[in-house]
Amino acid sequence: MTTPVDKTSGTDTSRARTAAEGSRPVLLGIAGSLREGSFNHALLRAAGELASDVLDVRIYEGLGEIPPFNEDREDSPAAAVTELRRSIEEADVLLIATPEYNSSIPGTLKNALDWASRPYGASALADKPAVVVGASPGRGGAAQAQEDLRRVLGRSGAKVLDQGLSVSRAHSRFDDTGRLVDDEARATLAEVVTRLAQTAGVAARSA
Ligand code: FNR
Repeated sequence: MTTPVDKTSGTDTSRARTAAEGSRPVLLGIAGSLREGSFNHALLRAAGELASDVLDVRIYEGLGEIPPFNEDREDSPAAAVTELRRSIEEADVLLIATPEYNSSIPGTLKNALDWASRPYGASALADKPAVVVGASPGRGGAAQAQEDLRRVLGRSGAKVLDQGLSVSRAHSRFDDTGRLVDDEARATLAEVVTRLAQTAGVAARSA
């Protein structure tokens, strides 16, 4: 369950992808929040806006449908899990935006990554280039959660790139419509997008 991102507004749209879009490398964005108005979703939309000239940007929307992990169901998971795995496998690069809950990543996100990492030896995340970013209304910018997420992704086989972005005091860096309006954060996010595009084999245009 993913939606493409419109490059002009940065909002999710349901329009059909064109043939040209289909030929671009795929960037899959995953946000670890189910909250309407999530800063981390807004961060992914901002990245999508910057990247959509060169990448087919898809935002994963199925996090809330993933059941609790059950090792007995690894080989016959729920459809939502199969869809998550397919979305990751189709992606050339991942951008994961995590909130920080009690100094770590949200349980919903960890749960989804656990599913994606199994069965053993067949992780959907294996060798998948990934960048971790995060936003929080606090001063830390979800830095502790990002650190944990990098460790979890690495253990799951992903190639975690050394780029990142911590958006602290998030309420002051997004406007009322959820647009990232902080120049410094936008510039760093543009660097992240450039690195993801290069990793996917295309050159990002100037942000
Ligand atoms: C939080 N929040 C939070 N923030 C932080 O910087 N460090 C933390 O340890 C925590 N802990 C925490 C626990 C729980 C259970 C909740 C619900 C929240 C605040 C959190 O950063 C804030 O709600 C963000 O807005 C969540 O991200 P989204 O939903 O805006 O993407």
